[in-house]
Amino acid sequence: MEVVIVPDAKAGGELIAEAMAQLLRRKPDALLGVATGSTPLPIYEALAARVGSGAVDASRARVAQLDEYVGLPADHPESYRSVLRREVLEPLGLDMAAFMGPDGAAPDVQAACLAYDRALASAGGVDLQILGIGTDGHIGFNEPCSSLASRTRIKTLTEQTRVDNARFFEGDIEQVPHHVITQGIGTILEARHLVLLATGEGKADAVAATVEGPVAAVCPASALQLHPHATVVVDEAAASELK
Ligand code: F6R
Repeated sequence: MEVVIVPDAKAGGELIAEAMAQLLRRKPDALLGVATGSTPLPIYEALAARVGSGAVDASRARVAQLDEYVGLPADHPESYRSVLRREVLEPLGLDMAAFMGPDGAAPDVQAACLAYDRALASAGGVDLQILGIGTDGHIGFNEPCSSLASRTRIKTLTEQTRVDNARFFEGDIEQVPHHVITQGIGTILEARHLVLLATGEGKADAVAATVEGPVAAVCPASALQLHPHATVVVDEAAASELK
């Protein structure tokens, strides 16, 4: 695992966007795995700026979703499909034909999970997966004690994660769904390059457990230690608990 400490979130975004741009220059139809949440926004902004300036052509890029709420219609403004359309696809000039994700509104959620794992494999696998990290060490929505070999499946959100995400639902926790579909940890580990960005002091304990702790289901992100090509980019605040 490579750990890169950057001064701030903007520098982390620039660094990772450049890695994505280099990938797209090498492989124009690369499958980019994308997370939602606040942390990756500087990455997506920096990549969109490179596309806007002509520094990289993303017109053939493909985008794969990491996780999705269960029960929100796809066109709900806070479904992750809608969020990723606004924050990633539109700024990169891509339409939804370039997008793949699990169907959080499917009548048979279990079948939708299996179908998504199969679709990722038939698409050739994710080339570069962007990850954030929860204060409890979750990646995707694999909360603590998720199996390190897990596949895409339905999960129940912890109360803490629902509290954390209420900010996207007018601060009203009642509106935050209880269930999500998430790529499993085993699924995530199949991406060719994992890039986790963590910023802010609130992530410092989770980053220390990820990088220096044992590989253990109690900190799902520690599974990155098992991956042959994992990069953890942290700002100085998020690095503050590293030895
Ligand atoms: C969301 C996701 C989550 C977030 C994590 C951190 O797609 O994968 O694991 O990355 O909850 O969220 P932020 O970045 O908002 O602190």
